[in-house]
Amino acid sequence: MEILAYGVQADEKPLLEAAFAGRHEVRCLEVFLDPDTAPLAAEHEVVSTSVNCRLDATTLHALAKGGTRMTAQRSTGFNNIDLDVAAELGLTIARVSYYSPYAVAEFAWTLALAVNRRVIRAANRTREFDFRLDGLMGADVHGTTVGVVGTGKIGECFARIAHGFGTRLLGWDIAENAHCRDHLGMEYTSLERLLAESDLISLHVPLLPDTHHLIDESALARMKPDALLVNSSRGGLVDTHALVETLRAGRLRGVGLDVYEEETGLFFLDKSLEGVTDDTLARLMTFPQVLVTSHQAYFTATAVGQIIEATLRNVEDYLAGRRTENTLVPR
Ligand SMILES: NC(=O)c1ccc[n+]([C@@H]2O[C@H](COP(=O)([O-])OP(=O)(O)OC[C@H]3O[C@@H](n4cnc5c(N)ncnc54)[C@H](O)[C@@H]3O)[C@@H](O)[C@H]2O)c1
Repeated sequence: MEILAYGVQADEKPLLEAAFAGRHEVRCLEVFLDPDTAPLAAEHEVVSTSVNCRLDATTLHALAKGGTRMTAQRSTGFNNIDLDVAAELGLTIARVSYYSPYAVAEFAWTLALAVNRRVIRAANRTREFDFRLDGLMGADVHGTTVGVVGTGKIGECFARIAHGFGTRLLGWDIAENAHCRDHLGMEYTSLERLLAESDLISLHVPLLPDTHHLIDESALARMKPDALLVNSSRGGLVDTHALVETLRAGRLRGVGLDVYEEETGLFFLDKSLEGVTDDTLARLMTFPQVLVTSHQAYFTATAVGQIIEATLRNVEDYLAGRRTENTLVPR
């Protein structure tokens, strides 16, 4: 069977082809699945999608009309998929519920440390042989308070690293993580208190209706004026307009964003020659304390290898008629 894989990164393609070799043909497309590209899937029973594909009602209807019966998403998050419509159409949707949480947690720390110690600015300066330290002063992480918003798999890994730095840990989640509480000394508290007391806040909850714009104007106003904010989860957790206003008011010492609420159509693509028309993102990137990366926290050889193996298993489970923990159903 030929599987059509959308949104395949150049570095991912050889790994995907090698994993599927001898089992199924896989045709890799750089384009993302959306209503315009859905007709390419005609006569493919199984397609594979990535995080910035748009599996809305129009796309799903087009897929079903073309004969697709299953989509295998190569990520954990699935906020890009309309599960209600998929269920109505009888489509099987699978995702990868587990892969290296270390990849994302380590990258969240990479962003935190880079903005704290002004690493990008320092590297740009030394490249120009400007060896001054003006404006590069950071703060010790040791002894500070770190707020972890969402203490699931990735949040726990982030907290373990925070523990290694010697920080005081605050946590917020709908369910307490026993390891964080009992072994890392994390204190669970209200979101309000976490925001007010933390020197670094890192977001690790999924994007759901409940968590959309969790970090809005009032949440940002609660944060310490010199706090660091890192979002490596989903862009929609942060109200970007409110974030820009907060930065304009001279608040927040550093912001590291691996995700952006309007990233679809931008992230993973080369926009260097045509320019960015998203004024909010462009304004955000003018602040010297802001660092934006394009959804690369998961992008390690370890994690991508695990995602591909799980995707292959998901396809084989579907073909064998098995439902697993990776099979998605509407909530
Ligand atoms: N940037 C990237 O490359 C990348 C890669 C993988 C995952 N992610 C994001 O990271 C998120 C977390 O991944 P994970 O593997 O740790 O997931 P997880 O399911 O292990 O943890 C999520 C945590 O959020 C909590 N939670 C869920 N709903 C909540 C709510 N309404 N309020 C408060 N807490 C809530 C859960 O109780 C859980 O502890 C994913 O949903 C995804 O959006 C980003």
